[in-house]
Amino acid sequence: MRRTAVAIGVLITIVMASTAVRFAVDGPNILAGTTPRDDVFAQRYIAHPWLAYLHIAPGVVYLLGAPLQLSRRFRTRHYDVHRRLGRVLLVCALVSGLFALLFGVPYAWGGASEAIATVVFGCWFLACLVLAFRAIRRDDVRQHRRWMIRAFAVAVGIGTIRIWAAIFESVEQAVSGGTTSEALDPTMFGIAFWLAFTMHVAVGEWWLRRTPALTG
Ligand code: HEM
Repeated sequence: MRRTAVAIGVLITIVMASTAVRFAVDGPNILAGTTPRDDVFAQRYIAHPWLAYLHIAPGVVYLLGAPLQLSRRFRTRHYDVHRRLGRVLLVCALVSGLFALLFGVPYAWGGASEAIATVVFGCWFLACLVLAFRAIRRDDVRQHRRWMIRAFAVAVGIGTIRIWAAIFESVEQAVSGGTTSEALDPTMFGIAFWLAFTMHVAVGEWWLRRTPALTG
């Protein structure tokens, strides 16, 4: 349990660091109406700020609030807050998931491979959220919690994508002797999406089976 919490904390920190980099790079360019010629990766975020930031900003709110919602202690002690915050976070997650599709499919850095992974796992994320909401509407707390855990497992996968991308980038730099110009190879970025999200869906299912008492 403690190890899981630490792993989730590390992944959320990675996502927050990526978000901070995005803001630092994109913010001044969006405000000034400029384009960084040497940063092709960032150009898409700067060219489509609404689509990109209606994905990132609510996603960050969801990712920071969800661990609190999943904590049994918090729920039992502050049930009213859990319900109110839950509505806000659900809307944030749905908006983020929808804009993941609207930005990630047409402007995927990793091309078709990333775009297809975005459709598959983005739709799964949205489906888990909708099913969690429907479950709680019929007072099925057990299923509500299980679907919310599945949704969260996908969302924290964003941190693991970054880990895979960093590993691939290091290997690529080592093999080329540090001569590659692009920060992230698009093919490898697409593979990182598939690896990370598949791992997270699988680990989420494993966690639900391993801890039926906690997740029941
Ligand atoms: C809910 C929590 C989420 C947060 C906080 C979040 C955050 C982010 C951040 C910070 C980026 C910019 C990446 C970078 O600059 O390195 C990004 C991009 C992206 N995210 Fe999310 N995300 C979340 C969920 C999702 C989900 C569920 C999907 C769909 C499966 C998704 C798909 C994408 C895609 C396709 C991109 C564009 C990657 C590219 O540059 O090609 N995200 N997200």
